[in-house]
Amino acid sequence: MIAPLTVDSLRIDPQRLAADPALSVFVAANAGSGKTTTLVNRVARLLLTGVEPGAILCVTYTKAAAAEMQGRLFDQLGKWALMGDPELRRTLFDLDGRDPERIADTTLAAARRLFARALETPGGLKIQTLHALCEALLRRFPLEAGVSPRFEVLEDARARALSRQAREDLADAVLADPEGPVARAFNTLVATLDHARFESLLQQLEDRRGELLAWLDAIDEGTAPTPFDLTRADPARNEAALEADFLAGIDP
Ligand SMILES: Nc1ncnc2c1ncn2[C@@H]1O[C@H](COP(=O)(O)OP(=O)(O)OP(=O)(O)O)[C@@H](O)[C@H]1O
Ligand SMILES: [Mg+2]
Repeated sequence: MIAPLTVDSLRIDPQRLAADPALSVFVAANAGSGKTTTLVNRVARLLLTGVEPGAILCVTYTKAAAAEMQGRLFDQLGKWALMGDPELRRTLFDLDGRDPERIADTTLAAARRLFARALETPGGLKIQTLHALCEALLRRFPLEAGVSPRFEVLEDARARALSRQAREDLADAVLADPEGPVARAFNTLVATLDHARFESLLQQLEDRRGELLAWLDAIDEGTAPTPFDLTRADPARNEAALEADFLAGIDP
């Protein structure tokens, strides 16, 4: 049997392998096992090969992780700027395994300048959260995304407050016009659904309001079935008419 080609059989440090920017890599590893270190090393190696800091984008899920990565990268580059030749040679060897004796002086000098370059680049090296990235994309391409160029991001707490306000407004509308269509729908649903299901209905209306509004627009354009089409109900008929029909059909 031929032994499979593994990281161990190649005697390559897996962390160093995963930090090779020429490879496309997916890393899953335990907490505290060196994932952030690997990512920071990857960025440092990209910068070492002369990639423009502004061409690098790192995306994290939390703000804390973005701050951590940025702090550690600048910490590392800052140390390089101050290292003597032998120590810097050793550090670069640890980073990518290059022969420490054959590192050119110009490479050492370039490594020492990375800190300043990364800081000075306009627009800079971007280490940001997924949310920040998406927001930046929407700000840049609002027309393409179909959003207002002056859109604001709704924070969770503000969204909850708006949702509460909307439900209070609904209750006010019901009280203001107790015989109106909103009140009739509200009273029917309150009577038919228990509290939890009623709340869940309102939540669904909120969560899927985009789809709902698109459907209403499509109905106006005649390109989507109306609720009456879907339920095959006759909009002209009411409870009284149904009852009269029913009674008329009964043999006394
Ligand atoms: N190859 C290594 N040898 C020794 N120490 C290392 C090595 N790689 C990382 N470390 C150290 O181990 C600690 C944890 O590393 P790191 O923060 O990169 O892990 P992580 O997988 O990102 O952790 P977390 O799951 O908490 O995000 C750090 O102090 C780091 O300096
Ligand atoms: Mg980490």
